[in-house]
Amino acid sequence: MIKNDLFLRALKGETVNRPPVWMMRQAGRYLPEFMAIKEKYDFFTRCRTPELASEITVQPIRRYGMDAAILFSDILVIPQAMNIEVEMKSNFGPYLPNPVRTSADVDNVIVPDVTQALDYVFEAIKATKELLNDDIPLIGFAGSPWTILCYCVEGQGSKNFAKAKAFCFTNPVAAHLLLQKITDTTIAYLKEKVKAGVNAVQIFDSWGGMLSPSDYQEFSWQYINQIVEALKDDIPVIAFGKGCWFALSEMANSNASAIGVDWTVSPDVARKLTNNKITLQGNFDPSRLLSPPKDIKRMVKDMIDGFGKDKYIVNLGHGILPNIPLEHVEAFITSVKTYNV
Ligand code: CP3
Repeated sequence: MIKNDLFLRALKGETVNRPPVWMMRQAGRYLPEFMAIKEKYDFFTRCRTPELASEITVQPIRRYGMDAAILFSDILVIPQAMNIEVEMKSNFGPYLPNPVRTSADVDNVIVPDVTQALDYVFEAIKATKELLNDDIPLIGFAGSPWTILCYCVEGQGSKNFAKAKAFCFTNPVAAHLLLQKITDTTIAYLKEKVKAGVNAVQIFDSWGGMLSPSDYQEFSWQYINQIVEALKDDIPVIAFGKGCWFALSEMANSNASAIGVDWTVSPDVARKLTNNKITLQGNFDPSRLLSPPKDIKRMVKDMIDGFGKDKYIVNLGHGILPNIPLEHVEAFITSVKTYNV
């Protein structure tokens, strides 16, 4: 079994001495050892080569000793497997040269055999499990169907995903067909990740907060909930919705094991909205890691006091930024590990 199971115990809501800690996007650009690999191999080569993906996954663990690792990969491997071309352009981000804009485009999107199309991900999981040696759990992940649709339709990142929203509101039949295809692929994909050895999965709804509360139900949450329902008996599921505080009470009533929250909601309000009945994960403002380490330490303590040490997983409210000094990450992780000692 896993030696440090603090993260899994927090997901079950068990009483712990201190909360576990990991950081969204912890395998990334703030680490010099990551940058060294990035200089040699392009993005999808890193994702597709199990030796590289597993090495990048454990880099932050070696340096800081987080309580969980998250597999190095990307949410956009799903549209790629569904026959939608995805490029990762340096200094630009994801670029999809043939975005999905019409009903005919949606018809051309396939639900692939994930064991074939995403075989390299499952191999990367097996390689990572070897490196981790059961010291800590490994988290697998997928984007929410809505967040994946955002990239498929927009064709690139966006401040407001206006084209993706316009597609949903003017052609809801095609939008729901696409969302269902993404959902079906994601369920099969996460089930295979479980077979390959991940110990928990997280759904990233990075752009859920772009929707109004009622549109969120229609275009995002119902699909996330299908994934939760399909996986709940196999593995703990964490649902993270950026800017989705308005949906917290509904999320807390689902069969997810934990809900991720961003920094626009206070610990107190997040606990009230979820009736203190589910594990919460978050919610340090990633930009606050730019504050001096002594301030980071104080704020981390206040955050844990605010959420309470039980039914809680310390994390950022979104991914770590590339310009965060290494000692500041150290201050963040150490203040959690020394809480209560
Ligand atoms: O958390 C981890 O460390 C595991 C790896 C991981 C990556 N992407 C690696 C990555 C995870 C969990 C993701 C998820 C992801 N990818 C999300 C959801 C989380 C979030 O941040 O909202 C989204 C929206 C994407 C799509 C994506 N991938 C974008 C918008 C970009 C470009 C912007 C950026 O963050 O650099 C990527 C590229 C990407 N994915 C990088 C990494 C480390 C950086 C580019 C590179 O390494 O060459």
